[in-house]
Amino acid sequence: MFKIVRKQVLSQTIKLIEVSAPEIAAKVQAGQFAILRISENGERIPLTIADFNREDGTITFIFQEVGHTTINLGKLESGDHILDLVGPLGMPSQISDFGTVVCVGGGIGVASIYPIARALANKGNRIISIIGARSKDDLILADEIEKVSDKLYITTEDGALGQKGLVTDVLKGIIDEAQIDLVVATGPVAMMKAVSEMTRPANIRTTVSINSTMVDGTGMCGACRVEVNKEAKFACVDGPEFDGHLVDWDIVEIRSRTFIDKEKMVMEGCTGGGCSCQR
Ligand SMILES: Cc1cc2nc3c(=O)[nH]c(=O)nc-3n(C[C@H](O)[C@H](O)[C@H](O)COP(=O)(O)OP(=O)(O)OC[C@H]3O[C@@H](n4cnc5c(N)ncnc54)[C@H](O)[C@@H]3O)c2cc1C
Ligand code: FES
Repeated sequence: MFKIVRKQVLSQTIKLIEVSAPEIAAKVQAGQFAILRISENGERIPLTIADFNREDGTITFIFQEVGHTTINLGKLESGDHILDLVGPLGMPSQISDFGTVVCVGGGIGVASIYPIARALANKGNRIISIIGARSKDDLILADEIEKVSDKLYITTEDGALGQKGLVTDVLKGIIDEAQIDLVVATGPVAMMKAVSEMTRPANIRTTVSINSTMVDGTGMCGACRVEVNKEAKFACVDGPEFDGHLVDWDIVEIRSRTFIDKEKMVMEGCTGGGCSCQR
């Protein structure tokens, strides 16, 4: 059992929990994730380790309530426990002295870009961050990301905060004006695909974080398969970070919609008639 030591509500649907997990906190590196299960009959879900404190032995998750498990996770309070927690999983992000790095985070993807931007900044890179959300209330971690960035751009789709539009609108201007050595993007599939297409003509190295559906998280079940450079890869062990120019985005898009009907059924109150939705 893993105790929640702090809970913070970041927006109407986005919550932060800090969990006591000393063994994971001792080893985790930027870009890695954990798989958790709230209760005996619960689904296993992967969440990025958005922050960690090695001294206190805690790790932090920031999650959006999008379905059955994340909504139930959001109901837990400080002092409650999570049944299982496995991690750190996945390959850490490559943290080297690249030069000028643009870190792009969209929506809940901002939680994943934060530890990467911080690690790259600590390595001496010049960090330009672009973070975006639908509206002001959905934007998370702006202060934290500003602290690790040389320059921060904010976009909202309705223009309530920062520049009106998409993160890619800002990225375009930066690419046209400056020498960029690396772009790191985390967020919705459409955003990461657009970023990769934007950096391709200038041949700017671009990494993306592929959030495929995961089950075991250890390379055994095949659920998280992606195609990179025409080769099958498993996001849980080979990723989640990949070269955005080599990812087959059509397959990522198709696979991200595979379980939509089942997820809808769970949210609409399946009564447990022998299907695999675990209710
Ligand atoms: C490596 C990785 C890191 C992630 N980090 C974060 C994070 O930091 N914060 C965050 O809010 N979300 C993160 N996600 C997505 C998160 O795992 C899903 O939102 C969660 O599993 C949804 O479960 P649900 O039961 O609440 O919703 P459901 O109704 O079951 O699903 C809603 C949507 O979530 C995705 N999803 C569902 N089950 C899984 C699964 N087992 N694995 C992956 N995606 C799934 C699908 O796109 C689905 O359409 C991450 C996913 C991966 C693969
Ligand atoms: S989650 Fe099973 S192989 Fe990756």
